[in-house]
Amino acid sequence: MDDLLGKRHPIGEREVSAGAFLDLDRLSLRYPGATADAVSDMTIEIARGDVVTFLGPSGCGKTSALRMIAGLEKPTAGSVRLDGADITRWPPERRLMGLVFQNYALFPHMTVGENVAFGLKMRRASKPDIAKSVAETLDLVQLTGLDDRRPDQLSGGQQQRVALARALAIRPNVLLLDEPLSNLDAGFREATREALRGLLRELGVTTVFVTHDQSEALAFSDRIVLMRAGSVIECGPPASLYRSPSTRFAAEFLGGTNLLTATAVGDGTHVTIGGDVAIQLALGSWSDGLRDAPPGTPLVVVGRPRDLRFADAPGPNRIAGDVVDDVFLGDVHRVSIRVDGLADSLRIDVRDRPPSGACIVDLPAKSLHAVAPEHEG
Ligand SMILES: Nc1ncnc2c1ncn2[C@@H]1O[C@H](COP(=O)(O)OP(=O)(O)OP(=O)(O)O)[C@@H](O)[C@H]1O
Ligand SMILES: [Mg+2]
Repeated sequence: MDDLLGKRHPIGEREVSAGAFLDLDRLSLRYPGATADAVSDMTIEIARGDVVTFLGPSGCGKTSALRMIAGLEKPTAGSVRLDGADITRWPPERRLMGLVFQNYALFPHMTVGENVAFGLKMRRASKPDIAKSVAETLDLVQLTGLDDRRPDQLSGGQQQRVALARALAIRPNVLLLDEPLSNLDAGFREATREALRGLLRELGVTTVFVTHDQSEALAFSDRIVLMRAGSVIECGPPASLYRSPSTRFAAEFLGGTNLLTATAVGDGTHVTIGGDVAIQLALGSWSDGLRDAPPGTPLVVVGRPRDLRFADAPGPNRIAGDVVDDVFLGDVHRVSIRVDGLADSLRIDVRDRPPSGACIVDLPAKSLHAVAPEHEG
């Protein structure tokens, strides 16, 4: 066991190290016979102890990327480095990574204890070391005492924790989680997500988490890698991706936002929306280069429903419209407002019962964001 774990940093101690711990450099994968890359030129640096989420729609290449990190798929181009070593051609078992798949893939005929011990047995750890590690790891995931149960005698959430314990028992360099919560129902899923997040923080284990659920990604990650059709579209901390997306895709995928068709005025400060209403944007609210866009350049202005509000009177950054719908969401009303010249209704979230009929909406300069009106694809 000491041979196995001696050179590794124990998962209980978070180390600070300069540079990337896990480094993907222009990683690409094209499956045999395919006409496009499943993963294309993926370059990501992951610091030790970070929880990074690959987020994107179904089929965008999340699992393929994860499988290349694990060594289960051979990249067509590019490299994977771990703590400075080029591991691109290393077999999976040499990488010492823990994997949890969407369906947990527990061994049905083994007990919980045997499932958790599996990786250590494969690595020929001694019996006492295995017993110690299994006990410690089951304790970590709060399954102490369930060693002798079989997977079919456990709840979904418990099975999920066994799968996690099995991945953690080898004290992995990197933990790879592919939609590990997708089999759980909504309420339990949130509780499990919080528990898992707490555990990962406590352990300081470098983690790559895959999901197509944006709220899960926002709640779970130190950094989000947003993917589409095999490519990384944007990457950053959840709050900056959510609040200041650089792309329309990020604004849309991270959910629940207004995308207003707009036109640059060319003064580096204003856009017009709804045909002729001038709206001011804060200095930091323009994604790359758009502040210098010449007059007439089409743009999209992003504004979250919770950041917009009703106003009593017309004024700067205010636009007139008509309330057309009001959906009570529990803690807020989501109100739809028809504005002349805008294709889609404006949605705003308010706590109190909204007015009906004609209204004025305030669009605060600092909560708006200009992005390019990219075509979907
Ligand atoms: N073994 C395979 N052989 C050929 N093509 C594959 C294989 N596995 C995946 N693909 C294709 O590669 C692309 C990326 O698939 P991948 O499984 O990585 O997507 P994903 O982002 O994990 O999607 P999901 O959210 O649905 O799990 C898809 O177009 C998929 O059809
Ligand atoms: Mg997948």
